[in-house]
Amino acid sequence: MTQFLKLVTLVYALVSLFYACVNGSETCPGTLVSNFHQKNCTDRATGTEAYYLDRTECIPKCKIYPTSVEEGQCTDNTDCISGYYCENRCGPKNNLRDYTCETDSDCQALPEGGRSKCLKYCVLPSTTGGVTCMSYHSNLPEFVNSYWTALIFKPVCNDDGDWEAKQCKGGVHGKCICYSSTGVRLFGEALYQKADNMTCACSRKKNDMESNGRTMVTLHCDSMGNYESLQCDMEKEICWCAESKTGEPTAPFVPEKAKEKLPCYISTTVGSQYLRQCESKKYAQSMITAKLKAHGAKYVQTDTLLCNADGSYGAYSVSSGIAYCTWRDNSKIGTWQSNIASNTANLNCNCARDFKQYSHSMDCEGNGNYVIVQHYQDDTNTLKYYCVDDDGFAKTGLLDDKNVNCSLYY
Ligand SMILES: *[C@@H]1O[C@H](CO)[C@@H](O)[C@H](O)[C@H]1NC(C)=O
Ligand SMILES: *[C@@H]1O[C@H](CO)[C@@H](O)[C@H](O)[C@H]1NC(C)=O
Ligand SMILES: *[C@@H]1O[C@H](CO)[C@@H](O)[C@H](O)[C@H]1NC(C)=O
Repeated sequence: MTQFLKLVTLVYALVSLFYACVNGSETCPGTLVSNFHQKNCTDRATGTEAYYLDRTECIPKCKIYPTSVEEGQCTDNTDCISGYYCENRCGPKNNLRDYTCETDSDCQALPEGGRSKCLKYCVLPSTTGGVTCMSYHSNLPEFVNSYWTALIFKPVCNDDGDWEAKQCKGGVHGKCICYSSTGVRLFGEALYQKADNMTCACSRKKNDMESNGRTMVTLHCDSMGNYESLQCDMEKEICWCAESKTGEPTAPFVPEKAKEKLPCYISTTVGSQYLRQCESKKYAQSMITAKLKAHGAKYVQTDTLLCNADGSYGAYSVSSGIAYCTWRDNSKIGTWQSNIASNTANLNCNCARDFKQYSHSMDCEGNGNYVIVQHYQDDTNTLKYYCVDDDGFAKTGLLDDKNVNCSLYY
């Protein structure tokens, strides 16, 4: 009997070993380090071929993008080709990936009447604020347009295919700017020559927390999107000292009331109030809203109040339906203003704010955004035109025709 048991154990061990070998990903030695990253692969692009980081096997490597993608089932993002994400979907018979879902019950009342289970598929992401990072680097059918027409700026993507927080535009005379993982501009910028230590880690963290539903994130980021040294979480009423580039705590957490004891506390710059003007208004607003809601008020109207991640005032302020471009101290910049109803979604006041900071000579829209077709007079006094992005950086070379359709360029 014991002989038999030994035999069974042996067979079992052999079989598991066999499966472990076949099923590669289960047996990758955890310590394997590779210095291959997404950028190594996207940088290899040639006129016709695009590359991405393939992580389906133990050792990551660069692979050529195929010209079409099988949107198969998956367990996580590493199973999907870069630019695609592993998301829960369901749908009618001939299109099982049409709708996002959380559980099977979300799939029982589809508009087409079809039913399917809620399963994970590699799909193009359902929710993005901006343009996905890999769409600039992939010549897959869905992205081929942006791949070819992003003539000047292609963002750097991380190994997941998301935007790196810090992106630099315009070469050595340009500047670096902070972005969310989906390509939405965040607080924090610096001239390229001064951006060595810039990480955007604080701006990104704050944005991630807000995207995950936190309403009042009181991290303080500096002008480069890095961490200021004194940090407080006013909802939890604790404070700590943070390392500038990473946010790692450099001193123990203390209650907010004891923040003066922290080595990074400097009374002249902080004063007794951690929250800055714009922030404390916003904080008060969110406390009132929370109270009203707790007492049963269903519809609570709050004013639009934009604050920067350093606690100063945001790009515009709204009063009687008019959005005025504003500077950090809430002062109006020039006469740039617009009717809020017409354009909040696209309003960024970047042109007005850059004018205040760098006094450039580019054309701004009346609302304070950049005019998307800028003009330039060349050496022979001929007028030429070029398209710019939201940040005022050229997306095209010089063109003869001012009726260019700039939305064709990324
Ligand atoms: C990938 O790029 C990094 C930084 O640019 C470089 O240090 C590394 O050697 C590259 N890896 C490979 C395998 O080429
Ligand atoms: C970056 O930080 C280092 C160390 O703190 C400092 O010596 C250097 O001057 C900084 N670089 C820039 C461009 O600010
Ligand atoms: C410009 O290009 C976009 C994107 O292809 C298109 O939707 C739009 O209709 C074009 N606009 C004009 C005026 O041709």
